[in-house]
Amino acid sequence: MTRSAPTSLIRPYRPGDDDALYDICLRTGDSGEDATHRYTDPRLIGELFVGPYLRFEPELAFVIEESGQVLGYILGARDTRAFEAACEQHWWPPLRRRYPLDAFPSDSADASLVNHIHRPGRADDDVVADYPAHLHIDLLPPAQGRGLGRALMQRLLAALREAGAPGVHLGVGAANERAVGFYTRLGFEVLKRPPRALVMGRSTAM
Ligand SMILES: CC(C)(COP(=O)(O)OP(=O)(O)OC[C@H]1O[C@@H](n2cnc3c(N)ncnc32)[C@H](O)[C@@H]1OP(=O)(O)O)[C@@H](O)C(=O)NCCC(=O)NCCS
Repeated sequence: MTRSAPTSLIRPYRPGDDDALYDICLRTGDSGEDATHRYTDPRLIGELFVGPYLRFEPELAFVIEESGQVLGYILGARDTRAFEAACEQHWWPPLRRRYPLDAFPSDSADASLVNHIHRPGRADDDVVADYPAHLHIDLLPPAQGRGLGRALMQRLLAALREAGAPGVHLGVGAANERAVGFYTRLGFEVLKRPPRALVMGRSTAM
């Protein structure tokens, strides 16, 4: 099968993509593997890692579309502190009402996401000083290993550079060896090693 060049499959996010992007988040949400079996509520994980980016930073959201199917995305926030403040003011309050702390059994995966909604983490000061932006990238299996992740990353890095962000960071599960290898290959360095995770960062300069 002849495949199109990676960049020709990338387009900006459009309203109407939301459900597809929430679904991709779920289907890549277990260290890069399908997390559908882990959660009772299929939308919850996307409410944390997709929804606020589409709402507050839609111009930093890009998708892979092939044959009418959305197969992946990259989402960015230019200024992590401003993004955290916008979430605190506008995004988390309605979710906290919809998902009270006892919404799910306390040992469930859903409950850990609800905990995050009520007590969201805050990026470290020393990380945001040099790497004020942050990002998330997820591709479904048919899109993986074809250079599309690299192409999406280049598109977002260019957009962040234009928006004035000198550096970008991300969090990745330490168990997600594939993603860690990918980020390393693309020039990201390990900045921190919190439990079971890595914080990685790089300059937005090419
Ligand atoms: C991780 C992910 C974004 C990578 O995207 P991809 O499209 O599969 O990667 P690409 O094909 O663009 O690879 C880009 C480069 O990284 C390299 N690379 C990819 N995986 C690698 C690995 N495990 N180790 C070393 N290098 C790796 C490729 O060889 C390629 O190198 P080159 O461009 O210099 O030839 C994608 O596989 C994915 O979305 N996985 C599931 C969800 C996920 O884990 N997301 C990250 C959550 S933090």
